[in-house]
Amino acid sequence: MSARLIDGKAIAQTIREELKAKVAATTGAGVRPPGLAVLLVGDNPASAVYVRSKVKACEEAGFHSVKIDLPADTTQETLLAEIDKLNRDPKIDGILCQLPLPKGLDENAVILAIDPDKDVDGFHPINAGRLAVGLPGFVPCTPLGCKELLIREGIETEGRNVVVLGRSNIVGTPMALLMMQKAKGANATVTVCHSRTKDLPGECRRADILIAAIGQANFVKGNWVKPGATVIDVGINRVDDPSAPKGSRLVGDVDFAAVREVAGAITPVPGGVGPMTIAMLLANTCQSWQRRCCG
Ligand code: GUN
Repeated sequence: MSARLIDGKAIAQTIREELKAKVAATTGAGVRPPGLAVLLVGDNPASAVYVRSKVKACEEAGFHSVKIDLPADTTQETLLAEIDKLNRDPKIDGILCQLPLPKGLDENAVILAIDPDKDVDGFHPINAGRLAVGLPGFVPCTPLGCKELLIREGIETEGRNVVVLGRSNIVGTPMALLMMQKAKGANATVTVCHSRTKDLPGECRRADILIAAIGQANFVKGNWVKPGATVIDVGINRVDDPSAPKGSRLVGDVDFAAVREVAGAITPVPGGVGPMTIAMLLANTCQSWQRRCCG
């Protein structure tokens, strides 16, 4: 039997409408809208697409958004000066610098320069630390989106085996920390697998919930998945496909055709986790705004 599809696009749209309604109900009468600043350095085409989507989503939800385009040869000093201005701007609740940065710029220094209380990406070590010790803070948008999908789909996590494939700072590590928390939608038994894991198929087969974030097309095979498991595919990989209009198409980290025959529920690519990342960016910005603006 074929797995139930988890419609991330529809769930993300619902969340965006909820946020829009919350903002509309609060703004006016002297209350400013939430403000997000997005920095784009250089001309990476994929980054430009992501940034456009983020700014458009802000505008649709009634947020104030600022897009700052800087050339690829921007110096570290100029970039840090821009961040400093945004840190001090009272209309800005969230600051995001799209990664990767062009060669020669220091990503870690940029992440450290963003005020942790405007770090809606959740990449600053202060927020990573808050997550690790269970304090409130900003959680990176993609893992937060995966958790929200599980909650809204009614998928139990408590006491379940969650296996996370990948240990990046942006997805794998915060995903594992989030699922380990003593909290609703968490309390899972978490395993993190990576390139040095001995028996990847065997570890995956123990998962009630398998979250793939390794960045390799069609990596997870059908016989790696426990029948009935939930599979969350974070991967966005472009592969050649002469039959597609562009000559290529997007696929996840999971061999979708094979895995959907085994899994109980699965996110598609595109239309699964991707749209949730943007919805959670708006949610994080809204959270920052509420704290800053509405006490
Ligand atoms: N590059 C890929 N994903 C992300 C993200 O979530 N935030 C930022 N700032 N850059 C990214």
